[in-house]
Amino acid sequence: MSTETQEAGSPALIDRFGRHVDYVRISVTDRCDFRCVYCMNEDMRFVPRARLLTLEEILFVARAFTELGVRRIRLTGGEPLVRRNITWLLKEIHDLPGLDELLLTTNGSQLARLSGKIHDAGVRRINISLDSLRPERFRRITRNGDLGKVLSGIEVARSAGFDRIKINTVILKHYNDDEIIDLLRYVIAHSMDISFIEEMPLGVIGDHDRAASYYSSDDIRRDIERHFPLQASSEKTGGPARYFRIPETETRVGFISPHSHNFCSTCNRVRLTTEGRLLLCLGQEHSVDLRHVVRSWPGDIDILKQAIIDAMDLKPEGHDFQLDSRPVILRHMNVTGG
Ligand code: GTP
Ligand code: 5AD
Ligand code: SF4
Repeated sequence: MSTETQEAGSPALIDRFGRHVDYVRISVTDRCDFRCVYCMNEDMRFVPRARLLTLEEILFVARAFTELGVRRIRLTGGEPLVRRNITWLLKEIHDLPGLDELLLTTNGSQLARLSGKIHDAGVRRINISLDSLRPERFRRITRNGDLGKVLSGIEVARSAGFDRIKINTVILKHYNDDEIIDLLRYVIAHSMDISFIEEMPLGVIGDHDRAASYYSSDDIRRDIERHFPLQASSEKTGGPARYFRIPETETRVGFISPHSHNFCSTCNRVRLTTEGRLLLCLGQEHSVDLRHVVRSWPGDIDILKQAIIDAMDLKPEGHDFQLDSRPVILRHMNVTGG
């Protein structure tokens, strides 16, 4: 049995490898106003609305998780802010007893409109994707994104009172590897953090050869250290990033390196897809259909909690990402929210 007694007497989620799951990432929509080349195919078919969990169902699942000791929930997508009434859901999840932190990962396109409401709902840290500061290139990478809109969204977010804003940047060779220092200067100037992410082979994307575009975290570090000293830091935010500090700045630089520095042994998280599939690992298909449970036993939180507890036995030891073959995982990142 994958449970253990916590101080408060409620069960905790422990998997077969002794890892404690206290963090859930929820993809609230697979839709997005961008089509980033590493995330999506140009021509995407999205999940029909009837198959999406409703906001009430998402809240119910989130409540079950918090009753099982989950302390941190991140809403992602697709682009979470294009889902209607998302700020209602943020507020409701934020108010669940037992939750320490509600987080959001967004592409920034709706932040000018929604930053205030997101902050009012109780979100204190947000991550914003930004892969280039050059409008033409930004459009090439996102396939249709408007850089100006994202940058003004970031400005509004900065004045909305969040404790920390982190920029997420996927570096691809020959796309944006020459912008690492410019992006770093930008976050330093605006007192933000940044994470550099190695591309993961999820879904067929049809744009580039992922092996040929691979730019490792070590390469990025080498590039940065030609301009700025990096001081290793033991800080953890609950995610897989390894953090460094740049002296005399407020900026933390993170590296998310699924290929070069595998972090599966310390994995503390599971994911809920837009369709209510509980995914036990980003890089594997082991999953349990929680939508079926929620719709078969409406309102019965004990059955749902037991299904979640039982699912812990399915959590695999780690991902199996290979860059040089066709992707083994056919679902795209927007379904699972990264
Ligand atoms: P923090 O909680 O602030 O550390 O956030 P985060 O970096 O975990 O979250 P974010 O949503 O910003 O994701 C950044 C990148 O990390 C995305 O590309 C995710 O796919 C990747 N990532 C997050 N968790 C995992 C994980 O468990 N496994 C893998 N392979 N990648 C992950
Ligand atoms: N590999 C790595 N990161 C990805 N993201 C989306 N698709 C991929 C991928 N294939 C990132 C986005 C966003 C975060 C949620 O996931 O840039 O910042
Ligand atoms: Fe949209 Fe984010 Fe995927 Fe880009 S990475 S297409 S912004 S979901």
